Amino acid sequence: MKKILFLGDVVGSAGRKFIFEKLAEIRAGTQADFIIINAENAAAGSGINASITRDFIAAGTDAVTLGDHVWDQRGFETDLPKLEKICRPANLPEENPGATHLILTAPDGFRLLVFTVLAQTFMNPKTSCPFRCAEKKLSELAGTYDAALVEIHGEATSEKIAFGRFLDGRAAAVVGTHTHVVTADECILPAGTAYQTDVGMCGPHSGVIGRETQAVLGRFLDGRPRRFEIAEGEVQINGCLISYDETQRRAVAIERFRLDREVVF
Ligand SMILES: [Fe+2]
Ligand SMILES: [Fe+2]
Repeated sequence: MKKILFLGDVVGSAGRKFIFEKLAEIRAGTQADFIIINAENAAAGSGINASITRDFIAAGTDAVTLGDHVWDQRGFETDLPKLEKICRPANLPEENPGATHLILTAPDGFRLLVFTVLAQTFMNPKTSCPFRCAEKKLSELAGTYDAALVEIHGEATSEKIAFGRFLDGRAAAVVGTHTHVVTADECILPAGTAYQTDVGMCGPHSGVIGRETQAVLGRFLDGRPRRFEIAEGEVQINGCLISYDETQRRAVAIERFRLDREVVF
């Protein structure tokens, strides 16, 4: 049995610090063979940089994934190709730099393919079809991996659910990110793929999807743009823990994972 822990979008320093502090404990507690973290909002809420990427790896993360905020930090396009254990969404135009997938190897030689695609409904980046991109990657890389975790980073639940059904039996797991809100639909699909529409985020939960309430509310009320600071207060780590049976070649369990930090005043 292989255990895969996938954690959703890390938001700001609050999310980062809580993860760095708890990661060893989480690995011991979950017995995870692989820990994969989407860190697309890790740098001040938008994107990531080289030093934060290295901090995630030093803390014990096996792979870092990204989303639509991939290029938000200045200069990251030159840093990304030099970094290890991090990949950008696979269906961005091919001129975009950086690895489009990772293959993680367990001590016993088991190889887990990991990649992210961006969904297209209500999403801004220029992308190719996430369905065809994922299908192509899984078949082109066949023989180089034993199981695959595919992340679908997107807004629309219908697109993510359709994507999960599309890859049922072809991926060990399809996990959703981007909305920052946990969905309660984790399941094993009929052909053995673990699925959850959104695993939620790692960051402050006292505001609006990680941002300070008053600024977001003001924008909704008067329509004027303003700076959205990162929220303060209660911090959660959210994700899912998948159990994959190598002999049956299918996922056998998926459970939501959540850790709360109490606010200390
Ligand atoms: Fe995000
Ligand atoms: Fe996103």
